[in-house]
Amino acid sequence: MPLPMQPSYITPLIYLIPLLMLGSGCTARYAANWTSLDARPLPKWFDEAKIGIFVHWGVFSVPGFGQYSEWFWYWWQSQKRPEEVEFMQKNYPPGFKYTDFAPDFHAEFFDPDSWAEIFKASGARYVVFTSKHHEGFTNWPSAGSWNWNSVDVGPHRDLVGELATAVRKRSLRLGLYHSLYEWYHPLFLLDQASGFKTQNFVARKTLPELVNLVMAYKPDLIWSDGDWDAPDTYWNSTQFLAWLYNDSPVKDVVVTNDRWGKGCYCKHGGYYNCADRYMPGELPDHKWEKCQSIDTRSWGYRRDMKLSELMDLPSIIKDMVYVVAMGGNYLLNIGPMADGMIAPVFEERLRGLGAWLGINGEAVYASKPWRVQTENSTVTVWYTAKNNTVYAIILGWPAKQPFQLTTPRTSGATKVTLMDYPDVPLKWAPVTQTAGLMIVMPTMPVSPGNAWSLKLEGVV
Ligand SMILES: *[C@@H]1O[C@H](CO)[C@@H](O)[C@H](O)[C@H]1NC(C)=O
Ligand SMILES: *[C@@H]1O[C@H](CO)[C@@H](O)[C@H](O)[C@H]1NC(C)=O
Ligand SMILES: *[C@@H]1O[C@H](CO)[C@@H](O)[C@H](O)[C@H]1NC(C)=O
Ligand SMILES: *[C@@H]1O[C@H](CO)[C@@H](O)[C@H](O)[C@H]1NC(C)=O
Repeated sequence: MPLPMQPSYITPLIYLIPLLMLGSGCTARYAANWTSLDARPLPKWFDEAKIGIFVHWGVFSVPGFGQYSEWFWYWWQSQKRPEEVEFMQKNYPPGFKYTDFAPDFHAEFFDPDSWAEIFKASGARYVVFTSKHHEGFTNWPSAGSWNWNSVDVGPHRDLVGELATAVRKRSLRLGLYHSLYEWYHPLFLLDQASGFKTQNFVARKTLPELVNLVMAYKPDLIWSDGDWDAPDTYWNSTQFLAWLYNDSPVKDVVVTNDRWGKGCYCKHGGYYNCADRYMPGELPDHKWEKCQSIDTRSWGYRRDMKLSELMDLPSIIKDMVYVVAMGGNYLLNIGPMADGMIAPVFEERLRGLGAWLGINGEAVYASKPWRVQTENSTVTVWYTAKNNTVYAIILGWPAKQPFQLTTPRTSGATKVTLMDYPDVPLKWAPVTQTAGLMIVMPTMPVSPGNAWSLKLEGVV
């Protein structure tokens, strides 16, 4: 059967990495079914970490254009979205193909150590990097993507490997984003045409590549995506996860998300992402993570982004605080430029978040949701808890004295401090016999994050 191949985008059919170990041994703790896999306890580093940085980088960073720029190829070729069609007509010669962008992915300023330094300074505890987005370009030398990867074309560097080394040097955990599907991979299209009854793509590309990623880079987290067109039985997700949890070199530390096939999200896998930017209305009973991009209109870099479309620091902190109080992790995204630079505006947001966490981090890292998540005083309050301490994070400085909280129940042992001044106990008085306290707030300089944390000891 003739495969619809593109000249610079060829998958050699002879290549076959043996599907090592996917049928696991008899001492396996986890069986290849969801009942068994879903019962695996989530390694605890993930809940304690709370904050991660998401990085979208690939060939899409070269055009770096339009809403959800990481989908550029799809908007242009499949959707024929007018913005992208016009952009190409105006700026590129006729016959220019998406794959022709790859040689311009130079990454000449990519310094993994300076990226890792910025990520560390943001207060994040893990980094999730696009090893491969839906375009199929691998940011590592995948044998299954021999002329569509960052070593053979473009940067001529192993971007995943270099970043992995740099983030680990700074004790950050390494997460790898991996798209199961590839829009235009000939074998994927072949399987799609069969109604996903055949597994050519999964056998020759997806599974060998996932195993290769795990063996080569030993990620602490696999952020799966691009699952939605086909059922998990097509992707063999349960077989892969059973191998990952039973026999892989990261079996005890690895964390995964929930995008493992049509209908899986918010239901199966490790922690839940559910939909992008998921915002639960009440406390979920399963660990979750919200991913959110500083550029509200794109995950990949957009050269045409405007300042007014970016989240400012108070909005980032507000969003993060809500997520943490609701038991989630916050995965904040930036899209680096094709030359390897992180736009200074993103860097400034990340350092701002880190400065805030430097003071307030105790209310965030390793915290647990409290018995009540939020209340509205003169400003919005979100609660977190750790051991016997409750933290009330306030969004905005209260205009009136004293500042009143209605939910905590005080005792004679109650002590209140503002985390900016940990050594200065604040004066407080109960509101009623049973609940609430009025706090005399100190005079505070303006804070760029517009959020503060009260530490309440001896309250229930
Ligand atoms: C999952 O696998 C376990 C262990 O093999 C088995 O006991 C259980 O019945 C399976 N569950 C389903 C729903 O297939
Ligand atoms: C998927 O798993 C099934 C059941 O174990 C197996 O028969 C099939 O060969 C696997 N497919 C691939 C592509 O590994
Ligand atoms: C607090 O106020 C906001 C905005 O008015 C509202 O959406 C939210 O439900 C309120 N929360 C509580 C706990 O009353
Ligand atoms: C909370 O308790 C654990 C063990 O019970 C202890 O290791 C940890 O230091 C405590 N954390 C704080 C912030 O007191």
